[in-house]
Amino acid sequence: MRYVVTGASTGMGAQFVSEVRREGVEVVALDVADPTVEVDGFVRVDLADPAAIAAAASAISSLDALVNCAGIPGGGAAPDETVFAVNFLGLRALTDVLVPKIADGGAVLSIGSMAGHRWKDRADAYRRLLADGSFEAGLAWLRTTDEIQDRPVYATSKEAVWAYTSVLATKLYARGIRVNSVGPGLVDTRLRAAFEGTMSDAVRARMNDIVGAPIVASEITAVMRFVLSDAASRLNAQNLVVDGGYLAGAEFAEWTL
Ligand SMILES: NC(=O)c1ccc[n+]([C@@H]2O[C@H](COP(=O)([O-])OP(=O)(O)OC[C@H]3O[C@@H](n4cnc5c(N)ncnc54)[C@H](O)[C@@H]3O)[C@@H](O)[C@H]2O)c1
Repeated sequence: MRYVVTGASTGMGAQFVSEVRREGVEVVALDVADPTVEVDGFVRVDLADPAAIAAAASAISSLDALVNCAGIPGGGAAPDETVFAVNFLGLRALTDVLVPKIADGGAVLSIGSMAGHRWKDRADAYRRLLADGSFEAGLAWLRTTDEIQDRPVYATSKEAVWAYTSVLATKLYARGIRVNSVGPGLVDTRLRAAFEGTMSDAVRARMNDIVGAPIVASEITAVMRFVLSDAASRLNAQNLVVDGGYLAGAEFAEWTL
C-alpha cells in the first residue's frame, strides 16, 4: 500500500504519516518543508506553484491513496492569493494530475476544515470555480466573484475543498475511488495560535465551553485512518466535521428540547 501525503512534514500530516507507516503503508511525502518524521520518499513542492506541482507529480508512478493535508492559515500571514493557492488550487492541481495514477478502489482524502461547512450557501459560485481547473482561472475567480469578496479567504479555500471533494467523488464512482474530506475544528498544532487569533473572545470562550480540552492531532488522524479503512468502504463523497461538537453547539445551543 502506498500513500502520497502532502503537508506531511509537521502537524496532522506528520502524525498521520507516523501512524500509517507503523501499519506498513509506504509513504511518499510532498511538502515545501523538510519532513520531521520518517518517510519512505520525499518530494519538495510548493503547492502555490503549478509548475512545481507538475514536476512533483511526474516523480510519482502509482499510489493507492492521495492524502491532502497541506494548508496555511489566513488572517494576513500570507497574501490571500497564496492562501487560496496552497489550500485549494494546489490541492486540486495535484489531485487532478495524480488521480489517473491512483489504483482502482483507492482513495482521495483531504483535510478541509469546519470553516468550509457552509459551502452550499454559495454553491453557484463554487460551481463556476470548479468548471475551470486551471490555476489562472481559479485566481481570477478569487479576485472577481462577488459572493466571496467579504468572506475570509481561509474559509473560501476550505469551502472550495468541500465542493471539490463532493464533485470529484461523482466522477470516480466507476473506478471505485472514494473521495472524502475531514474537517477539523481547532486542533492543537503549530497553526492553533494563528487560527485563535482570528476568533473573537466570545467565540474562543464558547469553543472552550463546548469542546473542553483542545483537540489533538491524533484525534483527527484516527478519523482519517478510519475513512481510508475497509470499514468505511461505503463512506464516499462526504465531508466529515471533527470539531468536538462546536458547530452544533454554536448553532443550536439555545434551542429547547
Ligand atoms: N490546526 C488547526 O486548528 C486546523 C483546523 C482545521 C483545519 N486545519 C488544516 O489542517 C491541515 C494541517 O495543518 P496543521 O494544523 O497540521 O498545521 P501544520 O502547519 O503543522 O501543517 C501544514 C503542513 O503543510 C505544509 N505546507 C505549508 N505550505 C505549503 C506549501 N506551500 N506547499 C506544500 N506544503 C506546504 C507545511 O510545511 C506543513 O507540513 C491544513 O490544511 C490546515 O488548514 C488545521
